[in-house]
Amino acid sequence: MKEAKREIIIAGNWKMHKTNLQALDYLRHLIPAIGGEGKVTVFLAVPFTAIAPVVEAARNSGITIGSQNMHEAKEGAYTGEISGEMLKCVGAQFVILGHSERRTIFGEGNRRINHKLKRAFDSGLRPILCIGETWHERENGVAKEILEDQIRQGLEGIEESFIKQLILAYEPVWAIGTGQTATPDTAQEMHSFCRNELIKFCNPDTAEQIPILYGGSVQPENIRALMEKPDIDGALVGGASLSAELFSRIVNYQTINV
Ligand code: PGA
Repeated sequence: MKEAKREIIIAGNWKMHKTNLQALDYLRHLIPAIGGEGKVTVFLAVPFTAIAPVVEAARNSGITIGSQNMHEAKEGAYTGEISGEMLKCVGAQFVILGHSERRTIFGEGNRRINHKLKRAFDSGLRPILCIGETWHERENGVAKEILEDQIRQGLEGIEESFIKQLILAYEPVWAIGTGQTATPDTAQEMHSFCRNELIKFCNPDTAEQIPILYGGSVQPENIRALMEKPDIDGALVGGASLSAELFSRIVNYQTINV
């Protein structure tokens, strides 16, 4: 097993799933199953409506609760939107930004994501910045250029003291929800590329400390091989995080056989 140089984070992203009743039932199953040994930090990004009750139910469990999105303004006439301050106030500690579903379905570009990142830091939330190429971009040999752009534009103007708190998630769009996971070698190549890109925005020691998560069809069966790679520091899990049983097996990847 590799020696962990960085914080290991396994993050679940429920997307638009689970009522509050379902969320609380899930936690009743998850908390005893993950045991809180502390080697892996568990994050759960739940729907806005579930944040407050889930924060309460997860108290003392070691699970960190966060949001899947937020608005870039501090406050204002933005009907239907949620600010970073509101999230912080109900107990969220992190926020996923730039998820490919936000980019493609809701038209969020790098500039807007950059504003959201700045606001997240100002609100005291730790952002998980998601980046990743489409299959078309990979086939055309521009995957790394896409990542470079997403990192450069995403982090533009952000101070190093904030960048230190960043979490990056490499999520190839073709692997999200498709069952087609990137091979550990492909993921490692892209993670190492991202880490080198980060050096343009902070000193090498800081870049060395930033956790880079892999996302895209992570399952109990493939997490171990991914986590063996030196630059893979955890996972962002969509579909499999909806089942407390599957998600706990991913969190416990170091100790259970699949
Ligand atoms: P998936 O989703 O695990 O269902 O592929 C990952 C994500 O969207 O973050």
